[in-house]
Amino acid sequence: MEPLIELKHIYKIYQMGGEEVRANDDISLTIFRGEFVAIVGKSGSGKSTLMNIIGALDVPTDGDYMLGGEDVSEMTDDQLAAIRNRMIGFVFQQYNLLPKLNLLENVELPLLYAGVPAGERKERALASLERVGLADKWRNLPNQLSGGQQQRVSIARALAGNPSLILADEPTGALDSRTSRDVLEFLKELNEEGNTIIIITHDNSIALKARRVVRIHDGKINFDGDVNEYAAILKAGSEKYTEQ
Ligand SMILES: Nc1ncnc2c1ncn2[C@@H]1O[C@H](COP(=O)(O)OP(=O)(O)OP(=O)(O)O)[C@@H](O)[C@H]1O
Ligand SMILES: [Mg+2]
Repeated sequence: MEPLIELKHIYKIYQMGGEEVRANDDISLTIFRGEFVAIVGKSGSGKSTLMNIIGALDVPTDGDYMLGGEDVSEMTDDQLAAIRNRMIGFVFQQYNLLPKLNLLENVELPLLYAGVPAGERKERALASLERVGLADKWRNLPNQLSGGQQQRVSIARALAGNPSLILADEPTGALDSRTSRDVLEFLKELNEEGNTIIIITHDNSIALKARRVVRIHDGKINFDGDVNEYAAILKAGSEKYTEQ
């Protein structure tokens, strides 16, 4: 297997009125192509900080980050934007669809930024909507869809650029439990088709849908392993792992 993500001794340190906040405190993590990983931890544990680094939205205070063999830790904002566009499909809790654009235009957007010509853009966006079962609704506006459908559109948008990594931040945070199950099931299918997926969540029941779990506690990894091993630890009930 080929590593897609290699984080080595990653620190993100904020200065808050003379106090140091170690949002990420010596995180080392390797994720291979084809994995389905949940990064889980309670509020304030450092998940978003880590997601911003993995997603090339921010650089660490210290440490090395290689994404697809490229050194991200020293990139400029323009270089970060370029690698993000090329390699990562984002899925957010609130979908982040543009309300005045129809579904097709929303899904086309990252391809537009990537400079894909109009004809090909439309074709790829439609194929992507097809994959999430919403091609027939391509003319609709986002607010004409249910929450679960909107999240599927945002997954289609993430897929359209054929990314190396799908990075989903609390993807079911705004959905009811049944729709959440459907969306997680769909992410699982995408993983089975070979997509590398990382889900960020505070919720252990969601983390249990992944194949590998990485738990963050006070900016450090306190568990990294197979989901079945994590399930067994949760059963044992140690608060270090169960607090959300
Ligand atoms: N820009 C910032 N300036 C100062 N401190 C920050 C900043 N961003 C995050 N922090 C601090 O870093 C720690 C980790 O924050 P982070 O947002 O990564 O947590 P989180 O696990 O995503 O929490 P949540 O589940 O609530 O979203 C927190 O103590 C937070 O207050
Ligand atoms: Mg967060």
